[in-house]
Amino acid sequence: MSEERYIAIVTGGNRGIGYEICKELARVGCKVVLTCRNDAEGRRALSKLNSGDKIVFHKLDVTDTNEIELLRNWIVATYGRLDILINNAGVYLDERVSVFDVDEKIMRDTLEVNFYGAFHMCRAFVPLMRKNGYGRIVNVSSGYGAMSEMGGKVAAYRISKVALNALTLIMAQELRDSNIKVNAVCPSWVSTEMGGTMAPVTPEAAAKDIVHFAILGESGRSGGFFRYKKPIPW
Ligand SMILES: NC(=O)c1ccc[n+]([C@@H]2O[C@H](COP(=O)([O-])OP(=O)(O)OC[C@H]3O[C@@H](n4cnc5c(N)ncnc54)[C@H](OP(=O)(O)O)[C@@H]3O)[C@@H](O)[C@H]2O)c1
Repeated sequence: MSEERYIAIVTGGNRGIGYEICKELARVGCKVVLTCRNDAEGRRALSKLNSGDKIVFHKLDVTDTNEIELLRNWIVATYGRLDILINNAGVYLDERVSVFDVDEKIMRDTLEVNFYGAFHMCRAFVPLMRKNGYGRIVNVSSGYGAMSEMGGKVAAYRISKVALNALTLIMAQELRDSNIKVNAVCPSWVSTEMGGTMAPVTPEAAAKDIVHFAILGESGRSGGFFRYKKPIPW
């Protein structure tokens, strides 16, 4: 791949899996727009990555549709296109909480980031991808969002990822006649602030699995749900 052949946006790029996705995308030759909701955090991540101009920072809270529009306008003005969108930003606010106890506000706040964030990002950037006749969207999902693996508790997080999975399939269907591929990836249990220190998978390994779907070739699948690069049931 030639240098900076693809322009990529990563949400929640300041830490955890998102940070490693930015690093990996730059390594494979992308121009990466690392976004996060806190300016200082974003600049700190950027200086730690030390990737020269391969990675740039743009502020984005995915729950703020004005900021999404500002980002889209900036992408259009700066690059004229977007090739890759990684919807990675996520919150996990109801660990071990029963569905009978979880606050409605926690349900809504979780959906706002994990589902509506990706929903608004896709609606903002797919028209740009259509115009350019190319796009790869990866929604960072979770086994907690698989109906086939559904357990009790953690309802806010689970339901947000079920909705994200459905969004993935619906978009893939509507985009099936285009060169825009949309997939969902479960990164497994990853050692980040969200996953905790006991998690067996490193953020670096998770990022590689996710980036695999960000640079899929023309014959790559769309509308799939994957873990360790292999399809898993919804
Ligand atoms: N870790 C796991 O075991 C695991 C398993 C399955 C799926 N996942 C998924 O993987 C993705 C990344 O998780 P992680 O483990 O890297 O978690 P993390 O370390 O907690 O990072 C979450 C990221 O999302 C960002 N974020 C939260 N709300 C946001 C908002 N409103 N706007 C923009 N960014 C926001 C955070 O930013 P701040 O720093 O500002 O909070 C942070 O950058 C999530 O979608 C998660 O659901 C993780």
